[in-house]
Amino acid sequence: MDGNGRWAARHGSTRSFGHEQGIEAVRSTVEGAGEIGISYLTLFAFSTENWARPQEEVDALMNLLVYAIEQETENLLRNNVHVMVIGDTAKLPGQVREKLLNCIDRLKNNTGLTVVLALSYSSKWEIVEAVKKIASDALNHKISPDDINIGLFEKYLSTTGIPDPELLIRTSGEYRISNFLLWQIAYSELYFTEKLWPDFRKEDLFEAIADFQNRERRFGLTSEQIAG
Ligand code: IPE
Ligand code: MG
Repeated sequence: MDGNGRWAARHGSTRSFGHEQGIEAVRSTVEGAGEIGISYLTLFAFSTENWARPQEEVDALMNLLVYAIEQETENLLRNNVHVMVIGDTAKLPGQVREKLLNCIDRLKNNTGLTVVLALSYSSKWEIVEAVKKIASDALNHKISPDDINIGLFEKYLSTTGIPDPELLIRTSGEYRISNFLLWQIAYSELYFTEKLWPDFRKEDLFEAIADFQNRERRFGLTSEQIAG
């Protein structure tokens, strides 16, 4: 979800106002994803690297998170949305963690769309955490080095149980991944749009999905093999 700061600059307002405007984009996208029967939608809301932004902006983002969670939980409950979080949540301020856990708990029986919030998340952090746990389990003889394979490795990632993304959308005309789900996007289709995040709506999601539907996903095989 990129481009809040540039959106704000273009509208002559503060970066924090740009982030606030991003909430409507989240609401519309989540609603659209639910309407068309998407199972998982992962939102990269705050990265490990974002902690190094000016304290004032970090504080504004954390306050906005608390506000958005409070504001949206009822709506999510009604829309049968389930919420999960991935990332180093121990770093989040207590109030954010508390609201978040409360929201997750309230939505735990919902069976529709799962929204995965990537908060204080980075892929390199996640992979290193997985390696640490694997090393510790090997030292404690819970696993042997020979047991380590792709399937076992994935069990140690924070996304365990969540299917790999089929489509990754990046907004704001930036063409990079920025430490997001590096392992999981090995075969994801990538979609880039010039739209700044606060201007993104469900119609933009549908447009991205229509584009995705015209692609041939070969997973390293030939076109003939896929057709056969
Ligand atoms: C995305 O918008 C929101 C977060 C990273 C939290 P940015 O704040 O990165 O917006 P730009 O890139 O400065 O336009
Ligand atoms: Mg940015």
